[in-house]
Amino acid sequence: MKLGTKLIHAGVAPDPSTGAIMTPIFQTSTYVQSAPGQHKGYEYARTQNPTRDALQNALAAIENGTHGICFGSGLAATDAVLKLLNPGDEIIATNDLYGGTYRIFTKVFAKYGLNFTFIPMQDARNIEAHITPKTKMIWIETPTNPLLNIIDIQAAAQIARKNEVLLAVDNTFASPYLQNPLDLGADIVVHSATKYLGGHSDVVHGAVIVKNEALAQQLYFIQNSTGGVPGPQDCFLVLRGIKTLHVRMQRHCENGAVIANYLRNHPKVDKVYWAGFPDHPNHDIAKAQMRGFGGMISFTLKDDSLESANRVLSNTHLFSLAESLGGVESLIGHPATMTHASIPREERIKNGLADSLIRLSVGIEDADDLVEDLKKAIG
Ligand SMILES: Cc1ncc(COP(=O)(O)O)c(C=O)c1O
Repeated sequence: MKLGTKLIHAGVAPDPSTGAIMTPIFQTSTYVQSAPGQHKGYEYARTQNPTRDALQNALAAIENGTHGICFGSGLAATDAVLKLLNPGDEIIATNDLYGGTYRIFTKVFAKYGLNFTFIPMQDARNIEAHITPKTKMIWIETPTNPLLNIIDIQAAAQIARKNEVLLAVDNTFASPYLQNPLDLGADIVVHSATKYLGGHSDVVHGAVIVKNEALAQQLYFIQNSTGGVPGPQDCFLVLRGIKTLHVRMQRHCENGAVIANYLRNHPKVDKVYWAGFPDHPNHDIAKAQMRGFGGMISFTLKDDSLESANRVLSNTHLFSLAESLGGVESLIGHPATMTHASIPREERIKNGLADSLIRLSVGIEDADDLVEDLKKAIG
């Protein structure tokens, strides 16, 4: 079955009791048993919920995995994946990643004895040099947030397999429409479903998808034991969101290309970060592992001051100044003070994240209107 069809049909079946075509929101905390231990497969809603089941099955199908495991947010999903590890284990992570991921690694899990090494991975061979006998996981984001670096998933997976460590890929920026890391050899895919999967800026949600039974059972155990589960209404919203992922992503990609090229030709704009440019350092890898380049773009101005960046950030009207990304409406953000404020400044600068960097999540409005909005704000 092709992806467009899977997005609409996978995981869902008409409700057996009513025929409702949309999976109902099973807003219940528990299920009545006909006798002790006799039930219909549902005992308590932290452990199982039919709305969540439908979503988990749909997510597994669209990432070409076997199991989906849902959580109350993308960071709760990350938290569960890290709980697969033990004190003393080492994780090699990309040095350009979402600020909240950096924070949970360095401020939460480091306290419990996990050790993190952050390295550039644009040349994936770099990973191998950092592997030690204690390394248990490689963690990558690609495209990265916010510098849109591209990491070769297949090359990272080969290194992971050779050294018997797990490869986890945060696929939030690409979404399953543009990239399927499990097909490229990754063991674990993580999503902030708050973003493209939900797609309408109305839900916070996270997911892990795997293709290995043992790993899936460990993650279900963690999901039930630590309890960071999403509510049924949130599962319903993500389930509804993914039904239009393909048509939304097509427009995000088209608009992304228009805006990236507009910015690149603007006399006041300095660097534009977007993997669709043929001279992006890893454009060929992006072309090979992705089906399009998406609608996330970052840029800096030639006048590299915070004041000029602030002027742009405060003067757009269609691009709303807000954290988050991946919704139908366009957003503009300032990573240094917003999404990546939890990374120490010297660390950010060292990794190329300038104070004046502006990040766009290009929505699915008419591209001409978005260009006009940026034209007025940049001047
Ligand atoms: C790439 C990436 N991963 C994970 C997260 C965390 O997701 P959530 O906000 O749903 O916890 C985010 C949030 O912005 C993100 O951009």
